Amino acid sequence: MAKKKSKFMCSSCGYEAAKWMGRCPGCGEWNTMNEEVEVITKGPRGAFQHSTTATKATPIIHVEVQEETRIATEMSEFNRVLGGGIVPGSLVLIGGDPGIGKSTLLLQVSALLSNQGKRVLYISGEESVRQTKLRAERLGVHTPELYIYSETNLEFLNQTIDEVQPKFVIVDSIQTVHHPEVTSAPGSVSQVRECTAELMRIAKTKNIAIFLVGHVTKEGQIAGPRILEHMVDTVLYFEGERHHNHRILRSQKNRFGSTNEIAIFEMLHGGLKEVLNPSELFLQERSQGAPGSTIVASMEGTRPILVEIQSLITPTSFNYPKRMATGVDQNRVQLLMAVLEKRMGMMLQAQDAYIKVAGGVKLDEPAIDLAVLTSIVSSFKDQTVRPTDCFIGEVGLTGEVRRVSRIEQRVQEAAKLGFKRAFIPASNIGGWEFPADIQVVGVETISDALRESF
Ligand code: TYD
Ligand code: MG
Repeated sequence: MAKKKSKFMCSSCGYEAAKWMGRCPGCGEWNTMNEEVEVITKGPRGAFQHSTTATKATPIIHVEVQEETRIATEMSEFNRVLGGGIVPGSLVLIGGDPGIGKSTLLLQVSALLSNQGKRVLYISGEESVRQTKLRAERLGVHTPELYIYSETNLEFLNQTIDEVQPKFVIVDSIQTVHHPEVTSAPGSVSQVRECTAELMRIAKTKNIAIFLVGHVTKEGQIAGPRILEHMVDTVLYFEGERHHNHRILRSQKNRFGSTNEIAIFEMLHGGLKEVLNPSELFLQERSQGAPGSTIVASMEGTRPILVEIQSLITPTSFNYPKRMATGVDQNRVQLLMAVLEKRMGMMLQAQDAYIKVAGGVKLDEPAIDLAVLTSIVSSFKDQTVRPTDCFIGEVGLTGEVRRVSRIEQRVQEAAKLGFKRAFIPASNIGGWEFPADIQVVGVETISDALRESF
């Protein structure tokens, strides 16, 4: 006889409790505890028995490692985000807003893989086989190695994987899949967790790389428990504004490579196209010679990109000045403004400040400080900096400009794109060679930087 059990689980962190609570004791979030009814069937578990053979501990010197083989697709940007290609047996989660292009991206990747003669199984719980076929036609996909399957029951998925014997599996989306032995609704915490655990086991035991599509909640997190992110090997986010054509694929977690690596795509009529030189794209629309605009060479993962930072500083009409920042941390902006007030004597208290990173990129490294600060000053004074200048450096509380990582790569990228001067921390000078066609200006304090650039 099956036994029914009811429990409450936090949709954010997966915390379990016997009764409902307004606030989750695990992560402190409000209104995230949901009831889940679970039916526990006694006796052996159905089709997928968990492994019972115990393995032994091995001395580390006896562990043999083979060279990690990665499968590179023809999409070099996609490979880079994954750390150089797809690792067999890995479980990759791709999150993003609805309509951003997750299914399109994965169908294109499937097509490229199957063109290389690798068998791919594309499982869609959201679209029928016909719909997927229509999309594939639009993308120009014709290959016998790509299998399409529309199903949501995990047991059938498992059987089909055994029948088709693919090297790659796409599950679109994890929220639609259900485990037949867990009775709560698809998309609930227990379902998502159990299904992911099962898919992880399939990936590891059968050495198949599995890609999971995950929906994102209003707050921008992958719906379902946070633990989902802990369970998988790699978490990628697909971001972008729906009204803009370009999309950013960002690695948030990667057991097989570096994180914060980004790839940029353009959504065109025939699918997604890689943008091989993102700096050019970001600088395309820049307003040359406008007050408030500066350029920074920021590291995104292992690659430098040049991005425009824009500020608008206007007198406040209410009691409290407004501070708004998109693409950079708002607290960082407040701090930089305080430094300008105290160290440079600028009267910014009665000014509203709006800061924006052009192109919808998010920058979160300290090396952007100097560019943000110069941009604020430029708008405040209504004076432009030279359009061929770029700024790199972290700003400290006493107004000093501090050293940053990978200076050589940043300056090289700026030189490559035709910038004539790079303002960098003085402490970063030495031990490397400046590129020939760019003037490098080492600055010790913000007052040095401002004096030289205006
Ligand atoms: P989709 O991959 O269905 O998004 P997701 O799976 O993340 O929900 O992408 C849907 C959007 O992409 C839709 O608005 C149409 C657009 N699109 C193109 O512009 N060009 C194309 O070739 C395709 C297939 C879709
Ligand atoms: Mg989709």
